[in-house]
Formats: sequence, C-alpha cells, structure tokens
Amino acid sequence: MSYLKFKKIIMSLPGPLPTVFDQVDKNKTKFIEVLREAVAIKSISTDVTCRDECTKMVLWTKKKLEALGATVELKNIGTHVIDGKTYPLPDVIVGYLGNDPKKKTTCIYGHLDVQPANLSDGWLTEPFELVEKDGKLFGRGSTDDKGPVLCWLHAIESYQNCGIDIPVNIKFVFEAMEESGSEGLDELLYDVLKPSGFFNDVDFVCISDNYWLGTTKPCITYGLRGMCYFFVEVECAAQDLHSGVMGGTVHESMADVVYLLNSLVDKDGKIIITNLYKEVAPIFDGEKEMYENIEFDPIEYKKSLGAHGLAHNGDKIQLLMYRWRYPSLSIHGIQGAVWEPGTKTVIPGKVIGKFSIRIVPDQEPEVIGKYVVDYLNAKWAERGSPNRMKAHMVHSGRPWTADPKHEHYAAAARATKHVFKIEPDMCREGGSIPVTISLQEASGKNVMLLPVGAGDDMAHSQNEKINVKNYIEGTKLLAAYLYEVGLLK
Ligand code: BES
Ligand code: ZN
Repeated sequence: MSYLKFKKIIMSLPGPLPTVFDQVDKNKTKFIEVLREAVAIKSISTDVTCRDECTKMVLWTKKKLEALGATVELKNIGTHVIDGKTYPLPDVIVGYLGNDPKKKTTCIYGHLDVQPANLSDGWLTEPFELVEKDGKLFGRGSTDDKGPVLCWLHAIESYQNCGIDIPVNIKFVFEAMEESGSEGLDELLYDVLKPSGFFNDVDFVCISDNYWLGTTKPCITYGLRGMCYFFVEVECAAQDLHSGVMGGTVHESMADVVYLLNSLVDKDGKIIITNLYKEVAPIFDGEKEMYENIEFDPIEYKKSLGAHGLAHNGDKIQLLMYRWRYPSLSIHGIQGAVWEPGTKTVIPGKVIGKFSIRIVPDQEPEVIGKYVVDYLNAKWAERGSPNRMKAHMVHSGRPWTADPKHEHYAAAARATKHVFKIEPDMCREGGSIPVTISLQEASGKNVMLLPVGAGDDMAHSQNEKINVKNYIEGTKLLAAYLYEVGLLK
C-alpha cells in the first residue's frame, strides 16, 4: 500500500524528474560532505583579516563549477578602503554552462561569503565545523548562502550523473562580498558584463539566498528591502581616559553617541528622522487582503525567535507590512565602547555608533542618506557639544520588487509543487541583496528569489543551520526549476 502510494507520487513527476530526484536522494551523504568543506572555509567578508579565506572560497567554487564542465572566469573588481587602508576585493566568478540557442538561459546568482561567527557568541558547536544533529546541519553559511549555492551545483550534477541533458543554459555570477554590501559588483555588471553582451541571451535571473517565511510551507519571493548603513562617530579626546581621574572634566563621547542614537527611533520602532517616510510607496488597493492569505502565524514566529514580545500587538498583517514594505531602523552597536565582560572604567576617546535603515519602494539610498545626515547634524547642533561628530552613510543597496505573475514565477511554482506537493506563497522579504535590482536592470529580465532554507534557520545569528530535508529537497526544487524553465516558450 505504502509502496503504491510512493510509486504514484514518483509517477506523477514529469520528464526526467523522477530519475533526477532519485539521484539527489542517493547522494545525500555526499552532498552533506561537500557542504562541510564549504562551511570550513572562513569566508567572512566583513572581516578584512579573512580576505584570503574569501579568495579560497572563490577558488574552491570555481573548481567545483569547472568539474561540472562550466566555463568560468574570475573577474577582478578592484579594491576598497577600510579605516584608511586599501584592501583587494575578492574576485567574482562569472561563467556559463551550455550555450544551446534552442534552450532558455537562466542566470543564477549566489554569494560565497558569510557573516562573522565565534563560539563565544553563544554557538553550541564550532561555527565553522558542520555538525549534523536532529536532522539539522549547523554551521555558519549553511543556509546563507553556501547551502543554497551548493543546491544549484548538486542539481546540475544530478542531471549529469543520470546522463540527462540539462534543460536550460545556465550563467553564473557568484561573489564573496554580499554581506559587506556587494562592493564593486554593480560596476562589474554595468560597466563590464552588460557591455560585453553577457546578458544578451539571458531570459531569467534566479537567486536562492533567502528563506521560507515559516518552517513548513515553501514560498517564492518577489520583493526585498534595500538598506542604508550609517556610522556616527564622536571623538572627545585623542585617547581613552581614566573615568576616575578625568570623569567630570570632559564631555564624554559615549554620552553624545548614545544621545544621537536615541534620537533615531521611538520605543514602538517608528523612525523619527525628519522626512524618513516621505517617499514610502502608498498602499495599493487589495494589498492588505494579499497579506491575509499568506501563511504566517505570529505566535509560532514569536516562539521561534525566543522573543519577549512582538511589535504592532502581534498583528499578522501589520507584522508582514512592517517587515516587507515599511522601513525599519536597527542600532547594531558601538565600536570603541567597552564590550568585554568585567567592569573596565574607561572613558572611550572615540566611539562609532552603527545603525542601518532597511529601505523600501520608492525610497532612494542617496535621498535617505541625506535625510539621516542632515537630521543628525541638526540634533548635534541642539546638543551643543564641543566634541567632533561625523555622520555618514557607509554603504547602501536599493529595494527590489518584481512581477510575481510572470511566467518565470509560474514555472517555479510548478517546480515547488513537484517537490513539496503544495502551492507556494508569493512573498516579499525584509532582508536585502543589493545586486538583485542591479541584475534586473542589467539583464532587463524577470528576477526571482527561490529559497530553499526554512524561516527558523537563523542566518547571521548563533547556531545558523539548514535542515537536511531543506538542503536535499531544495536541491530537487532547483533541479525541477531548471526543468520547468526549460519548458517555457
Ligand atoms: N541572505 C541575506 C538576505 C536576505 C535575508 C534576504 C532575509 C531575504 C530575507 C543576505 O545574505 C544578507 O544578509 N544580506 C545583507 C545585505 C546587506 C549587508 C546590504 C543584509 O540583508 O543584511
Ligand atoms: Zn545571503
């Protein structure tokens, strides 16, 4: 009985998918081992001391692509300056597999860099050692974005292992600076790849670098917020001072920076920077109803975060709107302040407050940057401190939305049904992938985000993981996507 049921599902899969899916299942252990290798490479782009590891990750991936028969080039994207020092940016992988004019061409993007992670941050296992426990694969980058990048590679390999022709031509753009704002990538896309004709034969762009909204239902994503990252620096003295000896005699930089940071957002998360909401796109007819149909349970969500309370009284529609289509401001930290455990009694000489704003249609990074800097300058004048203050935008990325009614999305929805037997939700997301809008502009084609990870994967956080099930079924999803896109006329 159960065999018949199993068989029925297998038989209901079209074309080569039963064979390819079977191949994916057979290689589960091997695919996990490949992820283990990738996670072990500490490609932290936000930490310049890890640049060699970023390069190592790029070379490792290049080799994997070449083993699949792809033609791959490493593109130099120059240098960038941090704290007055110049550092080389890791090369970008640009390549293709297949160039059959009778086939559609899909361009896939992914990133090979990760956020920092230390055991002492509260990880239960070594962050750069993949650990399998209870059907979960823990490790930095497991879900963001090494796991999904490998799902693409394994989907391709699975076709090849079965001797089945890949139904589409594939173009690759893989970078290792996404977590640092994709520096240098726009220039490569607009000034090198587009003029060289790289996008001429591209029909679709697909990115797997986000997660399902919840933990059980797959989704397809048609919108992301952009982001503007700011530093606000205050210097009160040429060096740190003894708070017993000098306390009471100087205007302290920490008090100034805390004052400025505290003037940005109220206790309910409303941004109080002048003009900040001015360009936010108005709500369109039927928009709220759209959110109603999305599967999202605020109580489950709260539980999965271990949060003590949710904004907007936990209202589902408000939560989705404030996550997807309204800006939010987050204060990330203060460089130069005491962060070590213990009771150090120092007056920091110079501190840098760090915060970012997730921006939405129709906000432009430069305009928001000006609002923020003007506002902080005005607040600083009100403060009347003799200290030195400088507020500036460090990097930014634009928001992105696409048309979810496009045939590309319909193809991905069919692919999702082949694997998960369920119609995916069409979602937007609150996170940012700066290159998404650039790929849309440079190619002039429909862009889609097709996530494989689950909503509780905890990207950027302690104990990041990808479920074995998501990793394996995600590989099938991307294989099915290639099949469905190949059928498009
Ligand atoms: N994978 C995320 C982006 C993401 C997260 C999309 C959640 C959708 C939902 C990506 O790697 C990331 O974290 N990007 C940075 C970009 C930033 C540095 C410009 C981010 O969103 O913080
Ligand atoms: Zn990512």
